[in-house]
Amino acid sequence: MRASTRTEIETIAQEAARMALRRGNVRKIAGQMVASAVSRQVAAQTTEIDERTRAMLDKSASEAVAGHAAKLPGATEVYSVAERAVADAIAAAEPEVLEKARDAAEKAVAGFAPPVVNVVLPDRREVELRGDSHRVLPEVLIALHARCHVLLVGPAGTGKSMLAKQVAEALALPFQALSVGPTTPMSKVFGYYDAHGHYHDTPFRRAFQDGGVMLLDELDNGHPGLLAELNQALALGTCAFADGMVDAHPDFRLVATGNTYGSGGDRTFVGRQALDAATLDRFIVIDVPIDPELEKRIALAHAPSRRKEAQELLEKVWQLRATAEEKNLPVMFSPRSSIDGAKLLEAGATPDQVLRWRVIRGLSETHLSALGIGA
Ligand SMILES: Nc1ncnc2c1ncn2[C@@H]1O[C@H](COP(=O)(O)OP(=O)(O)OP(=O)(O)O)[C@@H](O)[C@H]1O
Ligand SMILES: [Mg+2]
Repeated sequence: MRASTRTEIETIAQEAARMALRRGNVRKIAGQMVASAVSRQVAAQTTEIDERTRAMLDKSASEAVAGHAAKLPGATEVYSVAERAVADAIAAAEPEVLEKARDAAEKAVAGFAPPVVNVVLPDRREVELRGDSHRVLPEVLIALHARCHVLLVGPAGTGKSMLAKQVAEALALPFQALSVGPTTPMSKVFGYYDAHGHYHDTPFRRAFQDGGVMLLDELDNGHPGLLAELNQALALGTCAFADGMVDAHPDFRLVATGNTYGSGGDRTFVGRQALDAATLDRFIVIDVPIDPELEKRIALAHAPSRRKEAQELLEKVWQLRATAEEKNLPVMFSPRSSIDGAKLLEAGATPDQVLRWRVIRGLSETHLSALGIGA
């Protein structure tokens, strides 16, 4: 585009924007005014070119048309120059409006962006955690750095397993994981020899021998025999694997998770084992309650185009959670229901479907009415 044409369009657009500002309702009026002012300018240029072309017809019509048409800026280009000019005009005319808009934008962005967590470890090493994380993450880091094993206890879906993975990353240690259940065989932890005499190792063996964070997920779901073997390994710092005794690497850390404090099952987590005092004694126990700020950030990040409905869903889940706790109902509204609910909204489900499919599914009539949800 010629420089003079660009200046002309900028002047017209800025003048149109200033007039619109004086009349209020900036966005709508400015848009219309700039569009018509710019169209007039384009039309004027076209007429000018047409007239000149006509005058030159006796020379070489086709040559002239081609030459002049090339000088005419494309409509898209005109509008983008005009748009920038309008923005400049509005900024110059109303700095305080701009300031307010910037504040609002920053607040909205802050709702999405996780806070940066800085943890200074005892050896003065500083770890900066930029990803989204639970607020107890610094505590877990300090405990692990002090070479303690950690048991993370909290209700379902509060982010315990994720925390274990994140601390491994933060300490730059390899990460291994195993979820234990009532039927988890010893071989899953300590390895085994196959029929050909080959030893098969396990994630636990790798972390124990070579160093790393070992996540034993749902430790309170494991059977007592397995826990007793583990106790020994933790107490002695040496462990009997299928192929022999192995000493623990100085960087071996165990992070176990559980839904109960090791006192056995309750009404919500039935069938959980009581962790004996000896097992509990080997761990630092850190509570991992629901972190509503984390829940909100994760849920909203999953529903960028349905932010308002996701926010309403969160409030609904929080309200149900509070009622269930207040009335001591054995039902759970974990952060997973808000997070999965947000994903469903983003995929096109209606708020009502999300509620039925993911939040109140499977609840009895009695519980529904106690929660204030009509049949
Ligand atoms: N920091 C995080 N960033 C993003 N997503 C997260 C984060 N923490 C947890 N989540 C998500 O929240 C959900 C629950 O997390 P997680 O599985 O770690 O919970 P949990 O406490 O181990 O649950 P359970 O007790 O049922 O095993 C998962 O979908 C996980 O991906
Ligand atoms: Mg888990």
